[in-house]
Amino acid sequence: MISHETIEKNLGLLIVLTILVVSVGGLVQIVPLFFQTSTTTPVAGLKPYTALQLSGRDIYIREGCVGCHSQMVRPFRAETERYGHYSVAGEYVYDRPFLWGSKRTGPDLHRVGGRYSDAWHVAHLTNPRDVVPESNMPAYPWLDRPLKDASIQAKMRTLNFAGHGYTEQEINEATAALEGKTELDALIAYLQNLGVHAPKS
Ligand code: HEC
Repeated sequence: MISHETIEKNLGLLIVLTILVVSVGGLVQIVPLFFQTSTTTPVAGLKPYTALQLSGRDIYIREGCVGCHSQMVRPFRAETERYGHYSVAGEYVYDRPFLWGSKRTGPDLHRVGGRYSDAWHVAHLTNPRDVVPESNMPAYPWLDRPLKDASIQAKMRTLNFAGHGYTEQEINEATAALEGKTELDALIAYLQNLGVHAPKS
């Protein structure tokens, strides 16, 4: 039996044993998540993002919204009373990458779908202070420009490798679905879908 003292005084041995313990711990924690029903089965009604929502999600990423907004309602009373049912793994099945976030300068957005009208979002994103006078959220006045997403079909094909299940028809119609839309339209389509299929409290 190696004593604790021997391990602490022998750096090489300490490193090897640490790597071993962390690897085993990691495998035990992470691997089951790829096979567990609760993390791989979408919640009832959840569908892969439409072409417009998917483009809007990319604008959300591009504009750094995730730096101020989380998408993860924690199972605490203060949060569930404010936002609604806490987030469950099955809601994120089509989120690649996840946009959980870790900073809340603004409120959590995981339940924001349907909370406001599209017109409210247009006003808010163009200049937040027009609707929330004390807001310190930046304005995004450029989002009313035409949406250009030349790689939408390629994105959908790539997501199909991860099992999103877009049909050939959905992929073929994606470019047409984005025609005539603005970046605001896409971003709002994405926001209005957030939490729509959340479990009911
Ligand atoms: C610098 C931090 C910051 C950034 C970046 C930011 N926000 Fe906000 N956001 C806030 C704050 C603070 C509020 C609360 C005040 C308000 O409603 O404007 C807010 C509120 C919101 C709300 C209303 C939420 C609710 O439940 O009332 C939405 C929707 C929203 N932001 C969307 C976005 C989107 C989309 C982006 C990216 C284009 C974004 N935010 C970027 C700080 C930020």
